[in-house]
Amino acid sequence: MCGIFGCVLNQGNAAPLIHSSLKHLEYRGYDSVGIATVSDGKIVVKKDQGKIDEVHRFLNLDDMPGSVGIGHTRWATHGAPLKVNSHPHSDCTGEIVVVHNGIIENFLELKSELQNLGHNFVSKTDTEVMAHLIEEVLKQNPQLSFQQAVLESLKRIQGSYAFAILSTREPDKIICARNESPLVLGINHHGVFCASDIPAFLDVTNKAVMINNGELVILKADGYEIKKISDGSAITREPITIDWTPEMAVKQGYPHFMIKEIHEQTEVLRNTLRIQDHYLDLLSTFLDRANEVFLVACGTSYHACLAASYMFSKLAFLPTYPVYASEFIEQHGKSVNIDSTILAVSQSGETADTIAAVTCAQQRAATILSLTNVIGSSLTRISRVYIGTQAGPEIGVAATKTFTSQLSVLAQLALKLAKKRGKVSQDEIDELQIKLSKLPEYVDTVVKTQEEKIKQIAKKYVDSKVFFFLGRGISTATAFEGRLKLMEIAYIPSIAFPAGESKHGPISLVEDGFPVVFVCPKDDTHRTVIGNIMEMKARGAHIISIIEEGDQEIKSLSDDYIEVPKGIPSVLSPIPFAVPLQLLAYYTALEKGYNPDMPRNLAKSVTVK
Ligand code: AGP
Repeated sequence: MCGIFGCVLNQGNAAPLIHSSLKHLEYRGYDSVGIATVSDGKIVVKKDQGKIDEVHRFLNLDDMPGSVGIGHTRWATHGAPLKVNSHPHSDCTGEIVVVHNGIIENFLELKSELQNLGHNFVSKTDTEVMAHLIEEVLKQNPQLSFQQAVLESLKRIQGSYAFAILSTREPDKIICARNESPLVLGINHHGVFCASDIPAFLDVTNKAVMINNGELVILKADGYEIKKISDGSAITREPITIDWTPEMAVKQGYPHFMIKEIHEQTEVLRNTLRIQDHYLDLLSTFLDRANEVFLVACGTSYHACLAASYMFSKLAFLPTYPVYASEFIEQHGKSVNIDSTILAVSQSGETADTIAAVTCAQQRAATILSLTNVIGSSLTRISRVYIGTQAGPEIGVAATKTFTSQLSVLAQLALKLAKKRGKVSQDEIDELQIKLSKLPEYVDTVVKTQEEKIKQIAKKYVDSKVFFFLGRGISTATAFEGRLKLMEIAYIPSIAFPAGESKHGPISLVEDGFPVVFVCPKDDTHRTVIGNIMEMKARGAHIISIIEEGDQEIKSLSDDYIEVPKGIPSVLSPIPFAVPLQLLAYYTALEKGYNPDMPRNLAKSVTVK
């Protein structure tokens, strides 16, 4: 879950560009940073633990010679977040340096083999093995070119990787390679770039080339060559144009990406309503014909799947099974088959658990469908049909606009299915279509009318030691998402469960002043939720309710309440009802003095299992 970047410029120093590009990748990991450039046949390395700005203050990452260089921002998996474990890592001679995103699963075996051959390792990382492996291959086969030595070394590596490799042997080139971890190239007149994600080079180009698993790339000032790792055969692939602007990847005056992205949801939801009918039709046709449908994802995307299972059932009478991707293989790996359909949901399209679950199902001939926010991501490449959720780049680690855009697309699919299956009346479908088209304005109203109030509520409960998030029906998914947001950026232990479960155990935790957030749209569950609120109040809980505007009944039972516009159908309610929970988490994190964009121990795209 690191960010790698490399560039071969046809003139000028590479370091300043590598530095600014790593800043655009910092959401992928911020334990340490490092850059290596090559000039006059020598490799220069600057690296240290800490965030990029902190390290730059001491080391001046812009001041390095050479127009060829690689860089890395780290999320520690192997070896503590210390300078010695920060990338780039080199071989014994310092003539080969490597940056890496992923996990080399057989690194211990390779390391001891190389140590027995006299190699001296300085770090606890898996990555350092690659530099020494290439060194050893060249030592034993001096006739090989650097590229051939890398190819041979890659055949020994098991696990996930995106590598960028520099060597004094061929100082005008960078070699990069990919297996599972994301890798994309950027091209313009000044040079070529390789990166873990598109925002890294959006400042300098929107021409990108997607790299597939099992591919190696040679970057040179005049272009790039792609080869198959398995047999070295050449692959030609033209660049595509990315319709994202650099502005989309910067804060535009907001203090944090998260609050900028929360405010972008009105526009993003409008984009989702412009998705071509053809794709919605195609994907919903597959769902309609499916014998069994698994909704597979992780984290926030899983909560979108949970909400979708209510939408598909209520509107189309289609039973679907939301499954945590990290549990899919254990839970369904043996039973999934040719009659199974997987709808995988992932903003990044690169989450390793989701890719593994989908790959397992694909190997058993299941049909793979997906929703993702990154066109060209791994998930799109293993999907029979996929839909892009049109949210634009999401930089804040906490997913916000990608959640509501996923829900909007899932609701549109459920409506398509409802039409196909004729399970609900045309009037109801038309009514829902109208409400769907009003979602952007509903969300806009929530932000405009409730943000200040939510700031006060965040201030009031900032010292709470624990929170409950409860809902019934589809609001269970909204409650789960509220819980995740508060935990991941404000670090307050929070528990979410269907409100009906309270009396089966969790209510034993409740005592005076215990904050309980209730998500309660005015739908079929409204009556029973009031009962659950009463149960909690009877034990002294402080009730914070997300309610429909003017809901006097629950208002009178609440210590604090946040209002969402009237008349939002239950199946669409997770979209506007999630926004106050995003804001509550954001302002609570601020009250606690945390940086909401860079929550500790987390990273944006979880590319290891
Ligand atoms: C959500 O805020 C988190 N960033 C995390 O739970 C995330 O939803 C999860 O890792 C799944 O990511 P994906 O949607 O990119 O697959």
